[in-house]
Amino acid sequence: MHRYAQKLHQLIRSLLLLSLITASGAQAAEKIDLIIDTDPGADDVVALLFALASPDELNIRALTTVAGNVRLDKTSRNARLAREWAGREEVPVYAGAPKPLMRTPIYAENIHGKEGLSGVAVHEPKKGLAEGNAVNYLIDTLKKAKPHSVTIAMLGPQTNLALALIQEPEIVQGIKEVVVMGGAHFNGGNITPVAEFNLYADPQAAEVVLKSGVKLTYLPLDVTHKILTSDARLKQIAALNNNASKIVGDILNEYIKGDMEHYGIPGGPVHDATVVAYLLKPELFSGRAVNVVVDSREGPTFGQTIVDWYDGLKAPKNAFWVENGDAQGFFDLLTERLKRLK
Ligand code: RIB
Ligand code: CA
Repeated sequence: MHRYAQKLHQLIRSLLLLSLITASGAQAAEKIDLIIDTDPGADDVVALLFALASPDELNIRALTTVAGNVRLDKTSRNARLAREWAGREEVPVYAGAPKPLMRTPIYAENIHGKEGLSGVAVHEPKKGLAEGNAVNYLIDTLKKAKPHSVTIAMLGPQTNLALALIQEPEIVQGIKEVVVMGGAHFNGGNITPVAEFNLYADPQAAEVVLKSGVKLTYLPLDVTHKILTSDARLKQIAALNNNASKIVGDILNEYIKGDMEHYGIPGGPVHDATVVAYLLKPELFSGRAVNVVVDSREGPTFGQTIVDWYDGLKAPKNAFWVENGDAQGFFDLLTERLKRLK
């Protein structure tokens, strides 16, 4: 009897071990097929380095650029720079919309610098842009994609995706989720008292995306302003002592000055990088499904996101609104990923 019990014990152990290996293997296989739409932009570049340093979780199909913080030629150059700094030049960069759907273009050179990249010297990256326009790339890719398989991170004005949706509404079939850095509710705005820059720069585009019915998550100023740099957090990045950490440190030391002064806060937000942290470790964040509408009427509330946080209107929930995040967890994850770069 004893030998039989021993054999049974061994069999149960190996079955348990096998199930653990399979489970972890299945989790590891769940890569996110990702397109990053971006207007680099100081915090965009930090987000891009963060994402490009995370190939185990993020299968970055392409970077698509849009005018926003600075003009399109510079946002496209800066996206290529981030790709070069991350050593990921196999990722194609497609240039997209040079201006918003309807409103007159606005830029944020006062925050991001004339070259759109505060704190660091820029150069012409070796590798150029991919052939073709970002909007056509989005249409071709999302039409052909497996159903609801591609995640899109939106780090700037939503013009490219809006143009693609207007031209080919059925591309929603290929979209798994759109994760947006933008909007503001509890926090108030950063470009007007009520509007956040990405929404203010193209509210009509945000309306097109909102009305498309795609699965939508917003990371607004409500959460990005709770995830602030500090001397200790900047020191933990600097202590990595590699090229990527030097670039991020130089960018952030310059970039955060504006917000620290404007809001009188002890550190600055790294807005766009919170989208990457959300994709990598959503458990760092919390929020709720809400109804959001965007105001695109001329006037003092132009570009405002109106969020029915307490569901007073009983209107359809069209977005998941992230309102809180673990600041130290964010910086620990960012630091750990930057460490992987050269
Ligand atoms: O309001 C912050 C957002 O506007 C960020 O995406 C920043 O890069 C700018 O585009
Ligand atoms: Ca941006």
